[in-house]
Amino acid sequence: MKLAIFGASGRMGQAVTRLAHADASVQLVGAVAGPADPLLGRDVGEIAGVGSLGVEISADVSAGIMGADVVIDFSHAGAVYPLLVACEKQGVALVSGTTGLDERAQLKLEQLSQKVAVVWAANMSRGVQVLAELVAHAVRRLGLEFDVEIVEVHHRRKVDSPSGTALRLGEAAQKVRADLVEVRGRDGLVGPRKPEEMAVLAVRGGDVIGDHTVHLIGDGERLELTHRATNRDLFARGALAAAKYAAQAKPGRYSIADVLGE
Ligand SMILES: NC(=O)c1ccc[n+]([C@@H]2O[C@H](COP(=O)([O-])OP(=O)(O)OC[C@H]3O[C@@H](n4cnc5c(N)ncnc54)[C@H](OP(=O)(O)O)[C@@H]3O)[C@@H](O)[C@H]2O)c1
Repeated sequence: MKLAIFGASGRMGQAVTRLAHADASVQLVGAVAGPADPLLGRDVGEIAGVGSLGVEISADVSAGIMGADVVIDFSHAGAVYPLLVACEKQGVALVSGTTGLDERAQLKLEQLSQKVAVVWAANMSRGVQVLAELVAHAVRRLGLEFDVEIVEVHHRRKVDSPSGTALRLGEAAQKVRADLVEVRGRDGLVGPRKPEEMAVLAVRGGDVIGDHTVHLIGDGERLELTHRATNRDLFARGALAAAKYAAQAKPGRYSIADVLGE
């Protein structure tokens, strides 16, 4: 599989580079970062600590994904649109884990999926997929008497809030309880909690890779369903599996559940 990486200089881009290098079935053919990145022109393998791979980090999206079967994107919400346009023009399949996409990018993602295979997932881990299933099960079983609240913790450099994963877990709860209304924080004299409220709250600090807890709080008892990521390779592995899936798949929109065959 010929692979290009968009967001190649970032934390996730480097993790994908390392794992792609270790996988004999993957050939890295392109690497793209933003136009002001100080690492432009440097070899992507050297940046990721695996030695020279003969692929320079470029700011040119079209040239960077040229000849790839699939591109893996872990970049910035504001950077994704031009990538989607380039994938459409060149017929390159896409795996994107970038969170916080605006409506324009989401519509374009949908449009792109009519031409190539597209996997977008706020979280590429198997554990979070299972957590979402557990949340749906628990909310269904516990019913209206349990309050649902979601808390996520991420490193101090994360730019979007709340996390895409927290929103995905909220959607899993809302699929079962249509009355739930997302609330982004509480401040001041807000009055008693309304039964339909579902707060999604973000904590930021240090180097936390990503923790998510769904609190299900009743009278006299509560459940806390938690996922903790302890290594970024977790997401990079999921993205590579998704890329292999997308390289073989018909045009369409796919989820991590599809990739996992569940
Ligand atoms: N789905 C998942 O499983 C998962 C897991 C972890 C993270 N994420 C998400 O993945 C994204 C990246 O996370 P990260 O921790 O790797 O962030 P990061 O370390 O800040 O890396 C972001 C990368 O995007 C690049 N970028 C920014 N603007 C660009 C542009 N216009 N064109 C091309 N590249 C551009 C950055 O390069 P510059 O230096 O040029 O800005 C950098 O290489 C975030 O949205 C995060 O929430 C998803």
